[in-house]
Amino acid sequence: MKRIETIAELQKELSICKSQGLSVGLVPTMGSLHNGHITLVKRCAQENGVCVVSVFVNPTQFNDQNDLKTYPRTPEEDCSKLEKAGCNFVFMPAVEEMYPEPDTRQFNFGNLQTVMEGRFRPGHFNGVAQIVSKLLTTVKPDKAYFGEKDFQQLAIVREMVRQLRLPVTIVPCPIVRESDGLAMSSRNKRLSAAEREKAPLIAGLLSKSRTFASVKSVSETIEFVKKGLAEDPAFRVEYFEIVDGNTLQAVESWNSSDYIVGCIAVFCGPVRLIDNIVYKTC
Ligand code: PAF
Repeated sequence: MKRIETIAELQKELSICKSQGLSVGLVPTMGSLHNGHITLVKRCAQENGVCVVSVFVNPTQFNDQNDLKTYPRTPEEDCSKLEKAGCNFVFMPAVEEMYPEPDTRQFNFGNLQTVMEGRFRPGHFNGVAQIVSKLLTTVKPDKAYFGEKDFQQLAIVREMVRQLRLPVTIVPCPIVRESDGLAMSSRNKRLSAAEREKAPLIAGLLSKSRTFASVKSVSETIEFVKKGLAEDPAFRVEYFEIVDGNTLQAVESWNSSDYIVGCIAVFCGPVRLIDNIVYKTC
């Protein structure tokens, strides 16, 4: 595995690989890698001639400067995990390499960007689109891999790729969970021991809500999840919405769409966690 810090060097290496007819896969990450990321990297390495992983804590997607400052950074550990997972090139640029001048682009993803994460993290998806578009146009991968835990991000990336007509296949990858159900996230490291013990309640309630949903309405299912978490003061639900999986707009009944997903953002102590569950799929 080669560690690369500049766009010029990465493009030089990749042009050699591409001239040999190798397909290129990209896994964009912000580092602090866990098994969820590693699952994506292994799949990318399996499905492509060359596997590129970017590790870059993107400042433009943080609307909270303290969150940016405290975001876990573990470059050496990340590199050793990536090497074992079959990554060929790890791209670890400095901020100035990706943003030699401020990126003033304003994307418009319509209703996709105004709900859920978009409502609570203004500007977040514009920053995600800025960096992901830069990475996709730099690497020009055949396939790029994104986790379904960030359900809304996946929808935004797909829409951006459509708008910019980028020739890449976006590959969605299922949520990877700890053995107690907690969705893997770099933020889990920030949970105290007591919070870590409680955090699986989120996934547990989502899973139970699927059974509940088979006999109850959408609004009763929302109440079921919110009430279940409200019973413990360690949790503060920011939102729990049941939405159409394509448009991300709230649904009022289970008949409103063939693809229905419940998305949650909840603070467990000071740590903001997200998760989701599919209620209906075609
Ligand atoms: O999901 C993430 O880790 C980030 O939002 C991404 C896609 C790497 C862009 O910085």
